[in-house]
Amino acid sequence: MNLTEPLRTPIRGFDPGARFAEIRTFLQDHLVGADALIERLLVGLLADGHVLLEGAPGLAKTRAVKLLARALDLSFARIQCTPDLMPADVTGTSIWRQDRGVFEFAAGPIFHSLLLVDEINRAPPKVQSSLLEAMAERQATIAGATHALPDPFMTVATQNPIEHEGTFPLPEAQLDRFMLHVELALPDAETERRILDLVEREEQGEPAAPPAALDAEEIAAARHAAKTVFLSAAVKDYIVRLVTAPRDAKIAPELAAKIEHPSSSRGTLALAAAAKARAFLDGRDYVSPQDVSELAVDVLSHRTILGWRALAEGETPRAIIRAYLDAVAPA
Ligand SMILES: Nc1ncnc2c1ncn2[C@@H]1O[C@H](COP(=O)(O)OP(=O)(O)OP(=O)(O)O)[C@@H](O)[C@H]1O
Ligand SMILES: [Mg+2]
Repeated sequence: MNLTEPLRTPIRGFDPGARFAEIRTFLQDHLVGADALIERLLVGLLADGHVLLEGAPGLAKTRAVKLLARALDLSFARIQCTPDLMPADVTGTSIWRQDRGVFEFAAGPIFHSLLLVDEINRAPPKVQSSLLEAMAERQATIAGATHALPDPFMTVATQNPIEHEGTFPLPEAQLDRFMLHVELALPDAETERRILDLVEREEQGEPAAPPAALDAEEIAAARHAAKTVFLSAAVKDYIVRLVTAPRDAKIAPELAAKIEHPSSSRGTLALAAAAKARAFLDGRDYVSPQDVSELAVDVLSHRTILGWRALAEGETPRAIIRAYLDAVAPA
């Protein structure tokens, strides 16, 4: 399949829920055993959040984002991070135009609506901070002038956890800029076989039938619809109890002792927005406790910083958040 092939022109008079369902099916047809990943990418898109994908090489991270780009009628750019990357390679720079005697701004890849930042942990800290600043503020300041980024603007970054040489781990405080942190596991034998079959079919040229791409206007309408999904007082309480539990040592003392910095209010807001988007994707107009519990690990773990002792004992933030899900009841 040619991932860069353009799609048919978008349709008018659409139902945002049905259009997202179509896109979800398209992604599921081309990514085997990746339902959770697909859901997280669409949740990020709907809830105006950035997504960090973490997994070993060859787990279809790049493929997933390229497929998403294909399903969206948005400008797409990819940055392959290396230790010698410079902030201007990402944001752009002013170029002297000899013929006209003026400086002209040449926009960098950051000025695209969907940005794939491959191997973000190979980029040096200055590049990471300019990226993360753009993600948070949706603007970039270059040579003293501030430029707004396009709307929508979504970053999907990937990082490979098994590489340490020549990498710059993302600072914890900046990880907060990502709405979701998705960890990908190696597939089981049955999934592996389906991947082999799918890639073989593609190589033999079986035509893919992509749906009409979603454009910025449709995404804006779907985002609005997702925001109006009903979040009951009981589910709000559940979100708040989950996020604040690590701040209160009485709730689960053995877990709280392992955490040095629990999530801030950004985690609460992100979890509520993501849960609404998940409900919307499922065709519901209300958030269920499952929307919250399903997404809690991906929303909260990268905002939860463990103490050195817990890390030395091999604890992970993901396992701690999972344990909190058992300790905090939905209603
Ligand atoms: N779940 C899957 N569904 C479909 N194809 C898959 C799946 N997993 C792996 N593949 C195939 O494996 C190959 C590797 O995928 P891709 O390049 O996207 O991996 P990656 O996670 O970006 O790896 P890296 O970290 O090395 O960049 C692709 O040819 C892809 O088609
Ligand atoms: Mg890749």
